[in-house]
Amino acid sequence: MTEGIQRVAINTGGGDAPGLNAVIRAAVISGLRRGWEMVGIRDGYNGVLAPDRYPDGGVIPLDRESVRGITHLGGTILGTTNKGNPLAFPVRREDGTVEIVDRSDEIVRSLEEQGIDALIAIGGDGSLGIANVLAQKGVRVIGVPKTIDNDLEETVVTFGYDSAVAFATECIDRLHTTAEAHDRVMVVEVMGRYAGWIAVGAGVAATADAILIPEIPYDLEPVAEKIMARERAGREFSIVVVAEGAHERDGSRSVVEKEAGRAERLGGIGERVAEGLVEMTGKDTRVVNLGHLLRGGGPTARDRLLALRFGAAAIQGLARGCEGCMVALDPPDVRYVPLSRATRRIKTVPLDSDLMGTARELGICFGD
Ligand code: F6P
Repeated sequence: MTEGIQRVAINTGGGDAPGLNAVIRAAVISGLRRGWEMVGIRDGYNGVLAPDRYPDGGVIPLDRESVRGITHLGGTILGTTNKGNPLAFPVRREDGTVEIVDRSDEIVRSLEEQGIDALIAIGGDGSLGIANVLAQKGVRVIGVPKTIDNDLEETVVTFGYDSAVAFATECIDRLHTTAEAHDRVMVVEVMGRYAGWIAVGAGVAATADAILIPEIPYDLEPVAEKIMARERAGREFSIVVVAEGAHERDGSRSVVEKEAGRAERLGGIGERVAEGLVEMTGKDTRVVNLGHLLRGGGPTARDRLLALRFGAAAIQGLARGCEGCMVALDPPDVRYVPLSRATRRIKTVPLDSDLMGTARELGICFGD
């Protein structure tokens, strides 16, 4: 099964998430135990697409020493990027126009030239979509699901999500006390792209009064009513958690920028929600956007464990002849699912889930 495997590369792509280094460590140690040479590709695929840009050649050796003491560290020792998607790479022509080109064949060639027999691609929907195309072109690849957004199909959870929710919960707890002290409305914007997992997870855990998510286009009237009903009951403060991808029933998402070769950047919906609520309630209101704080820092114990399990499972999968697949959590086990199935659409919060049912039981308003 392990026929032909001598040199295994690892890369990390897309936005970083707590736990990347733990995956790298487990994969490297497990690979070395099998006598395989382990290497890391710098900054997603940039290390093989533009090796000249790197003094170290873009592909670096990963030995036992290079992964020592990194399990608890945030970020990624390999670097990452969510710019310049190699499947839709923007190239500026001499006349100033931008042409979009597919560079996947270049990656396949470069991996061959580097003598890489298998690739462990750690990423979210974008990076694993690229991995899926490489698999279809004959690269022996196994994906590892990473993202704070938790929006990947076929795995119960991605690593990074627990750390983001834990931190967001702590922040909302803190905002609770100051909101109560000042009788204010606090609007807390959280990341999550087109899914409301972080908003619902942290919002429910931190007892938010309203949670606005992309899965439920909202009206502000019921949110304002909820705030005023609390006021009448003597609770003069309220917490509203807003996912960055949420939008009004008749409105659009709040997009900061759209650049060729990368996903649109969301942000600013919290300000819109706050303006509307001030108009409707007249209450003193503040906005906090937790933004990249949710991605920074080290992984929780749960994310460390999941990331280590995923890293070890990726190597076990390669050893068993798995390719074109992704490791996935299916409690209590980690199993292997086809990359094509994992990347066909994003996983949003099911409205009939127990999580949403719990939120509804608790009386949390979703603006519907
Ligand atoms: O996918 C992870 C994520 O943090 C999203 O929640 C967010 O929309 C996006 O990445 C932000 O990307 P950037 O780092 O480019 O601002």
